[in-house]
Amino acid sequence: MATKEEQYSLVYKQIASLIAGENDAVSVMANISAMLHDSFGFWWTGFYRVEGGELILGPFQGPVACMHIGYGKGVCGTAWKERRTVVVPDVEQFPGHIACSSESRSEIVVPVYQKGAVVAVLDIDSRELETFDEVDAQWLEKIVLLLPPIGSERDIYLAAGCFWGAEKYLKLIEGVTFTEVGFANGNTENPTYKEVYTDQTGYAETVHLRYNPSIVSLRFLLEMYFKAIDPTSLNKQGEDEGTRYRTGIYYSDSTDRTVIDEVVAEEAKKYGSPLCVEVEPLRNFYPADEYHQDYLDKNPSGYCHLPVALFELAKKAKDTK
Ligand code: SME
Repeated sequence: MATKEEQYSLVYKQIASLIAGENDAVSVMANISAMLHDSFGFWWTGFYRVEGGELILGPFQGPVACMHIGYGKGVCGTAWKERRTVVVPDVEQFPGHIACSSESRSEIVVPVYQKGAVVAVLDIDSRELETFDEVDAQWLEKIVLLLPPIGSERDIYLAAGCFWGAEKYLKLIEGVTFTEVGFANGNTENPTYKEVYTDQTGYAETVHLRYNPSIVSLRFLLEMYFKAIDPTSLNKQGEDEGTRYRTGIYYSDSTDRTVIDEVVAEEAKKYGSPLCVEVEPLRNFYPADEYHQDYLDKNPSGYCHLPVALFELAKKAKDTK
């Protein structure tokens, strides 16, 4: 009998040749689900896509499943939030596991990264305990790299000083579907807030935005971003000072560069001088601890370097072009 390694090696080749040249993510997700499901006899095999700030059921094989899963919820939401493959040997031992089917006993969820952001997860359930291990994780992580671009939502990373206020502001803009705060374009791995606070890591406090481009354009988001920063102030926004509070626009798709340069040039004209806003490809991004996520929603009277009027502006803002 073939080992699991040998099975995966064969299935990988079959999937790669089947989907070569295919650009429609839904049909590719459908066939990857079918291939894995049939080859291994799993109980449930399929995808959830990150859209509208949650996980939405995508193509799958197996019994009917729940259609919406929140960020950080269940095994799928955990894999999304923690950006890592989650292997669950016994679903009853996983706090918060979402039981779409009472027959499921063990599970693996693999995040799908595209341009540095999690855009979907691959979820596989088994009716046996302890079905999945490192071998599954490694091969499934390799298989999801074969996927073409998923969905139409886009990502941009904006550093605007202290990320508590910046997240609250940017999240209010219509068309922004998801935000998370973290650290971008620094020089160490897995930085903690404390390390970034030393100002020695090169990281900038940054808000990762996911947005629906049919509701809001990147141009409009950038114009709103400029309303919330002093672009002439180097490494200082409000009372917060240090390279970690620098302003920056970090893009994960190089085709965004043209509009970024245009908006920056238009803003520079207003000020009549070159701006201090860094524009760079996103080199890395690490989400900050839960404590910092949606900080001002959790602590309404917490520190904020932005004036309240800006939040009112963001609430009413509408991209009408
Ligand atoms: N068990 C998953 C929910 C999806 S179903 O398994 C198809 C979870 O806890 O996220």
